[in-house]
Amino acid sequence: MEKVALVTGSTNNVGKGIAEQLAKDGFLVVITSRHGKEAKAVADSLTKKGAYYEVDFSDPEQIASLFSFVKKTLARLDVLVNNVAYTKNESIMDCTLETWEHTINTNLRSYYLCTRYAAEIMKEHGGGNILNITIGSGRGIGNKFAYSVSKGGVNSLTMSSAIDLAPFNIRVNAISIGPTGTPVGSKENPDRKREYESNTLAGHIGLPSDIANAVSFLVSEKAQYIYGAILPVDGGGTR
Ligand SMILES: NC(=O)c1ccc[n+]([C@@H]2O[C@H](COP(=O)([O-])OP(=O)(O)OC[C@H]3O[C@@H](n4cnc5c(N)ncnc54)[C@H](OP(=O)(O)O)[C@@H]3O)[C@@H](O)[C@H]2O)c1
Repeated sequence: MEKVALVTGSTNNVGKGIAEQLAKDGFLVVITSRHGKEAKAVADSLTKKGAYYEVDFSDPEQIASLFSFVKKTLARLDVLVNNVAYTKNESIMDCTLETWEHTINTNLRSYYLCTRYAAEIMKEHGGGNILNITIGSGRGIGNKFAYSVSKGGVNSLTMSSAIDLAPFNIRVNAISIGPTGTPVGSKENPDRKREYESNTLAGHIGLPSDIANAVSFLVSEKAQYIYGAILPVDGGGTR
């Protein structure tokens, strides 16, 4: 039976790169975004044609519908990549309750719900892999308050769910990434891009394929002894 992977927020940049790699690895990939037409176009463009689903990950009912679709139509799930995120540049003093709730719901609650629903399906056929996309937020980020807090939560969610899900043969890991592909503001502001580049040891920002290669490894059998890890794939940028 063919293996199935689902990537949350996979019509652009990092998520799209991960979906492309997982399709090359032989998975039937489920492409998701709030825009069904775009999701279908990406699903159709993959080396191995994928499935797609229009879903807003800030809405718990839509997340439940997505996993019902996966269970009914694809019957299994081997890999979940939690990638979707929302960012607004606000310090704690500017952050509105609306920003806080939307950010936490999109970036953290969706990771919890997707992990929970995915694990229900995975444990029925002997296990699987869950991979979370996060940032090296150990010391926080200024002026992105809710986003930074949400990613700290993702780090904690990764380690706690790795413990709870190991008995079901489900490995949970995370990749912490720095500026990659088309980071916010880099197109409009070349100085911003140069600053990002100078902050890395590699001398350039990451490509979505750099992240996708690490995902490909972590969900493979070659990584079978890796549980609850948060692997930096950031060109040495988290200094
Ligand atoms: N790129 C970077 O430099 C960078 C740096 C550090 C960490 N990261 C992390 O890497 C991950 C991907 O970032 P990215 O820059 O590649 O993102 P991106 O370019 O903004 O793409 C986001 C994707 O998610 C979808 N999406 C956004 N909100 C959604 C929602 N509420 N429901 C469903 N789909 C939604 C978008 O499609 P629609 O708009 O059509 O819904 C799109 O496919 C995130 O976890 C981010 O925190 C990225």
